[in-house]
Amino acid sequence: MGKGPLWLENAVFYEIYPQSFKDTDADGIGNIDGITEKLPYIRELGCTGLWINPCFESPFGDAGYDVSDYRKVAQRYGTNEDLFRLFEEAHKLGIHVLLDLVPGHTSWKHPWFIESMKAEKNEYTDRYVWTDSIWEEPKGYGSLRGISPRNGSCAVNFFTHQPALNYGFYKPERPWQQPVDAEGPLATREAMKDVMRFWLEHGCDGFRVDMAGSLVKNDEDGKGTIALWQDIRAFLDREFPDSALVSEWGEPDKSLQGGFHMDFLLHFGPSHYNDLFRCEEPFFKGTGDASEFVAKYTENYERSERKGLICIPSGNHDMIRLAKYLNDEELRLAFAFLLSMPGAPFLYYGDEIGMRYVENLTSVEGGYERTGSRSPMQWDKSRNAGFSDAPSEALYIPLDPDPERPTAEGMMNDPASLRNYVKDLIRMRNAHPALGNLGEISFVLDGRKGHPLVYLRSRGDEKILVVQNPASSPAVIRFDGTPEKELFRFGGDASFSEGSCTVSGRSALFLLLSNQVSNQVSN
Ligand code: NOJ
Repeated sequence: MGKGPLWLENAVFYEIYPQSFKDTDADGIGNIDGITEKLPYIRELGCTGLWINPCFESPFGDAGYDVSDYRKVAQRYGTNEDLFRLFEEAHKLGIHVLLDLVPGHTSWKHPWFIESMKAEKNEYTDRYVWTDSIWEEPKGYGSLRGISPRNGSCAVNFFTHQPALNYGFYKPERPWQQPVDAEGPLATREAMKDVMRFWLEHGCDGFRVDMAGSLVKNDEDGKGTIALWQDIRAFLDREFPDSALVSEWGEPDKSLQGGFHMDFLLHFGPSHYNDLFRCEEPFFKGTGDASEFVAKYTENYERSERKGLICIPSGNHDMIRLAKYLNDEELRLAFAFLLSMPGAPFLYYGDEIGMRYVENLTSVEGGYERTGSRSPMQWDKSRNAGFSDAPSEALYIPLDPDPERPTAEGMMNDPASLRNYVKDLIRMRNAHPALGNLGEISFVLDGRKGHPLVYLRSRGDEKILVVQNPASSPAVIRFDGTPEKELFRFGGDASFSEGSCTVSGRSALFLLLSNQVSNQVSN
C-alpha cells in the first residue's frame, strides 16, 4: 500500500448518512451527537472506520454534496465542537473517521461562487470554470447561465446548482480554459488543502473524496488529475502522514498513482458490480453470472499492479439497498463475498440488519430514487424505531412502514441473525491476514451462470480458498492437495476428499489450505 497509515490495513468501514442515523435532539433529523452515542454499536459489530457523508453547511440541494461552508458543521447536525468530540470518542474505541470531501464543486450559494458571479474582477473570479461569454457554453459539462452580472457561463459538475471548481484544463483549447498551473487553478487547489488541513488538525483521520477523478478538465487519460492529487498527497505526507484518502474514482490504476490508498468500485460505469447484487438476475440470487465482473475486476487489479485496493461497498447512499433484490439467505451469501475480498469493506448503515429499500418516497434533498435507501436507521421497536423522539410526520425521511422491519436490537439479541452473521464474518476476516485488505486474490472460477465463484486469498504463508455457490445445485471443486481446515461455512454441507470438495447449492465456504497446495482448482 505504500506509505498508507497502518490502521487502514485492517479497517472495516461503516458508512453513515448523518441525516438518518440517530437524532438526539428530537428535531426529526440525525445529528453528530447521535453518531457519537452509537459508536459502541459500530465497534461491537467489528468496524474500525467511519465514513460520514458531508455534514457541512449547505442549502441541501444534494443532501450536503453542495457545500456552502467547508469548515462549518451544518447547524442541524450540531457544532464543530460536537464533531471534534466525535473524533475523540471514536479514537478511544479504536475507530478512525473519514469525512466526505467534495472538492469538485460547491453549492451555488457558496460565498466563493457569489463573489465569482460579480462582473468586477476579484479573488474568486477564477475559482470556478467560466467561459468568457454568456453565449458560449463549456462544452461537455452543462452550465449555469444568465444568473450573474458576469458575462459568462459557468460549468457544473453534477446538478446544475453545483458549479465546478477550477483546477484548470490539462489541454486548454479555448482562451478561457486555464492551464493547471495558472494562478486561479493553483489558488483553488491551495484552498482545498486548507480545508483538509482544518479538519485534520482537529482530529479527523482522512477523507472519502467525492468524484475525485473529475477535477482537471479536458483530461481524458487522467494525467492532470493524477498529478494534482500527487501534489495534495505530498502536502499530506509532509503535514499529516497518517491521513487516509479513499477515492470515488473507479479507476484504481489512476487513483492509486495519484496517492489514494484505496479506490471504490463504482456501481455505475463498466464495473459490472451490480451483476452480483442489483439486476434482474443477480449472481447472489443464484441465477446470474459473475464472469464479466470478474473480468473487469481482474483487469483493474492487474492494471493497479495487483495492489487489490478496490473497496467493494455493500451499498451506499446512491444505490438501491441490497435487500430490495436479495432475501436473507442471499444477503448472507453476498456478505460472505463482500467480507472476503481485498480492499477495505464498506458497510452502508443498516445493511447489516437487512434494512429495506423504502418504495415510492417523494424525493428529499435531491435524493430522487436514492431517497428510499436513506430512511432512518431502525434501532429498536420503540417510537420511530428508536431513531428520533420527534413526531413521526417530522422525520427527515419516513421510516420503513413495514411492522416487521428489522431492528438492530432485535438482531443483536438473536444469535442466528444477519447482524451476528456479519459480525462473525468481520471477526473471521480480522483473524486471517489472507482475507484482509492487503491479502492477494486470484480467481480460479469466474462464476459463469450456474457455476460457483472461487478465489484464492493469500498473504505470507496463509492461503484461503473461498467458494461461493449461490446456484441451487451442488458443485464439485477439484484442487491439488488436502484442505487443512474449514474456516467458515454457510448453507448446506460440504464434503471433502483428497483433491476435491463438494459444496451444497446456496452455500459459501472458506477453506484454509496447506502451504504446499498449488492453485489448481476447477469444477
Ligand atoms: C457522488 C455522491 O456520492 C452523490 O451522492 C452526489 O450526489 C454526487 N457525487 C455529487 O457530489
